[in-house]
Amino acid sequence: MIFFDNVSKIYNDDSVALKDINFKVKKGEFISIVGQSGAGKSTLLKMIFAEEKPTKGEVFIKGRNISKIKNNKLPILRRHIGVVFQDFKLLDKKTVFENVAFAMEVSGRSDLDIKEDVPQVLEIVGLSDKINNYTTELSGGEKQRVSIARALVHRPDIIVADEPTGNLDLVNTWDIIQLLTKINQYGTTIVLATHDREIVNLVNRRVVTIDNGMITRDQTDKGKYLI
Ligand SMILES: Nc1ncnc2c1ncn2[C@@H]1O[C@H](COP(=O)(O)OP(=O)(O)OP(=O)(O)O)[C@@H](O)[C@H]1O
Ligand SMILES: [Mg+2]
Repeated sequence: MIFFDNVSKIYNDDSVALKDINFKVKKGEFISIVGQSGAGKSTLLKMIFAEEKPTKGEVFIKGRNISKIKNNKLPILRRHIGVVFQDFKLLDKKTVFENVAFAMEVSGRSDLDIKEDVPQVLEIVGLSDKINNYTTELSGGEKQRVSIARALVHRPDIIVADEPTGNLDLVNTWDIIQLLTKINQYGTTIVLATHDREIVNLVNRRVVTIDNGMITRDQTDKGKYLI
């Protein structure tokens, strides 16, 4: 599903964010990427949805080399990959329905599809009762559910989540992790970046540790993350 072949990323100002990264993620995995601030987690995730391109090496998604993907091919790639961020990135002047609908509109889906699919994904994330609320009227956990619904609406093969619980309290964190686990059980591959050990313990699945741009540990068993 995801394959990094000797990938390095050096940003313009000579800062080396990733060094010789080799790793594979199989369909249906739930993988957590952990590491300290500045370790390279977000950079690694950005390579998966081609927000950043490798300086060296190649990235493959579903067998396609996306290392030099052209801008006009990005929408096709992004239909396979839902992205969830720490700061939700919602449109605050729109309702919950409209936020999710907007993602469908920009990818050219019909009004009929929108009317059918938006309530469906909102039900999956448990937000049916807030469908007509403005996002400003929601709690942090609810906002993150909207952003997960928006990611789900293209029925992606992969969900990439960069510190999705970074702005949430413990109860909401637990809820969001459970929701991601449920989505994973439906068959979606999940790549989660976090610096929070409690979270990887909650998830209790494969953990890849990055330190200073390098993978220092890849714990494929379901064991707990030990420091
Ligand atoms: N656009 C950029 N231009 C230059 N350097 C960058 C850029 N983005 C990230 N970096 C550098 O690359 C390194 C890795 O950054 P990255 O954001 O991937 O880390 P991270 O593990 O996600 O950290 P955090 O936990 O703080 O989010 C850091 O040294 C950072 O300063
Ligand atoms: Mg980051």
